Amino acid sequence: MALTFEEAYTRLAEHGQEHVLRFWEKLNEKERAILLQQIEEIDFHTTDHLIERWVLNEPETEHFNHIEPVPVIPPVDPSRPDAREAKDTGEEALRAGRVGLLLVAGGQGTRLGYEGPKGAFPIGPLTGKSLFAYHAEKIRNIQRRYDCILPWYIMVSEANAEATRAFFEQHQFFGLNPTDVTFFVQRMVPCVDERGKFMLEAPYRLARNPNGHGGVIPAVVENGISKDCLRRGVDTLSYFQVDNWTVQVADPYFIGYHLLRGGEMSSKVHRREGPREAVGVHCLCDGVYRVIEYSALDLYPQLLETTPDGMPVYYAGNSAIHILNVPFIERVYAAYRQFPWWRAHKKIPFLNETGELIKPDKPNGYKFETFVFDALRFIRHKPIALEIRRHGEYTPIKQLRGENSVEAARQAMSDYWGEWLEAAGWSVPRDDKGHVSVLIEISPLFAWSKDELVQKLQGKPDKITGNVSITSDGALETSVG
Ligand code: UTP
Repeated sequence: MALTFEEAYTRLAEHGQEHVLRFWEKLNEKERAILLQQIEEIDFHTTDHLIERWVLNEPETEHFNHIEPVPVIPPVDPSRPDAREAKDTGEEALRAGRVGLLLVAGGQGTRLGYEGPKGAFPIGPLTGKSLFAYHAEKIRNIQRRYDCILPWYIMVSEANAEATRAFFEQHQFFGLNPTDVTFFVQRMVPCVDERGKFMLEAPYRLARNPNGHGGVIPAVVENGISKDCLRRGVDTLSYFQVDNWTVQVADPYFIGYHLLRGGEMSSKVHRREGPREAVGVHCLCDGVYRVIEYSALDLYPQLLETTPDGMPVYYAGNSAIHILNVPFIERVYAAYRQFPWWRAHKKIPFLNETGELIKPDKPNGYKFETFVFDALRFIRHKPIALEIRRHGEYTPIKQLRGENSVEAARQAMSDYWGEWLEAAGWSVPRDDKGHVSVLIEISPLFAWSKDELVQKLQGKPDKITGNVSITSDGALETSVG
C-alpha cells in the first residue's frame, strides 16, 4: 500500500523535513503519487545520521596509528609459474560458468557532459561505436573463447534506466542474448542544504542523486541479482566501470589469483604517476584494507612520500576493477549500516519558498554517496591486489579533453593497438615522440589480445599510412576518419 499524505507528513515531521510537502495543495494526483513514492523510499535512519555527521557537525578526521602500502602482486608475466597457475584456474572457472559480470553504469557523467547514458558515448574514434558496444564485443569474444555464458548485470539509476535499456534494444543487445543481460536500478538519496534540510527540484520532486557506485552492494541483493547468480551457478563477479573503455573484463589471470588465494574481494591497481595524481590509494590502515581518496591525501602526508626518483612510495592507485564473491556481497549487505558514506559540496538547483527554481552559482548543499572500494575494509583474508599496466587496461573517460579524457584514451589505444599491429609485422606511422600518429581501432570481437590479432592477421597487408579500423569480421577499413 502506498503511503498516504498523513503518513508521509508524520514521517517527515519526525525528522524535521515536513517542508517538502509545502506545495502539496498545488499538485495533481500524478505528482502527489510521485512525491509520496519518493518519501516512502527515504531511509531516514541513514539520512539523519548523514546530516548529523556531515552537515551539522564538522566530521572528525579518521586517525590511523600505522599506514603501510598494500602488498601487490607484480604485473602478469605469462612465463611466471604463479601466473600460469592463475590463468589455468581462471580459465577453469570461466569454462565452468562460475563467472558473471558486474557493471556499474548509474553515474550522472557530469564531467563528460554527454546527453544520455555514459555507456552510449561513441568512444570508437573511427566507427563511433559506444562504450557499451565495446564491452559487449569483449564479452562475446570471451564467451566464444571459453564456450561459456557470462551473465552481465548492469547497474543503472532512475535517471538513465530507461535510456540504457532502449539503447540496448535499439542495438539488438550488441549480439548478446538478452536473457543474459540484466539491468537493475540503484537507490537514490536526498540532497540536503547547508542546514541539513531536504531540497526540492520541482514542487513534487526531491533533489536526489544515485547513492554512488557503492550502491551496487544493496542493489545486487535487493534486486535479486545475487539470487540469479546462485540460480546460474555464478559465485564470482568481475566488477568494472562503464567509462573504462579498455578494461579486461573477466580476466582469467585476475580471477585465478582471486580464487587461488581465497579472495572475497580483490583489486587491480596501477602505479600512480606522481604523488598528487587524482586517484585513490590502496593501503593498509591499522591492518585494514582501505582506499584513501585523493582529496584526503593531505590528511595522511606519508601517502605523498616519494622514492629518490620522485615516484610514490604508496604506488598502488585505484583502477576501480575488482572481483567480488556473491556471498561476500551478501555479507557486506547484512552489515550495510556500517558501510561508510561520503559527502560532496555541490551546486544543487532548488525551489525557493515561493516555488521559483534557483540555479546557484556556488555550492549550496550536499550530495551523499558510497564507494564500492569501501567494501574492501570488510574482507577477512589477506589483501589481493594485482598490479596492471595502464596500457590497454585502464583508460577511464571522465571528460572530453585533458587528463582521463576521450582524447587521451584514443591516443593511448592507438599506441596500444599500434604495438599489436607491429607485432603482426605491420609498419605503423609514429610521431617524433613515439606516439602512433594515425587513429587505430580494432574490434574486440575480432581480437582481444595481441596474440589473437597476430594469429588472425597472417597474410594481410603490412603497412598503414592512414587511419585504420579492423571490423569484427576482420575487414580493414582504411578510408574512415
Ligand atoms: P564516477 O564517480 O566517475 O562518476 O563513476 P560519473 O557519473 O561517471 O561521472 P561524474 O563524476 O558525474 O563526472 C565511476 C563509475 O561508477 C558509476 C559510473 O556510472 C561509472 O561507471 N556510478 C557512479 C554508478 O553506477 N552510480 C553512481 O551513483 C555513481
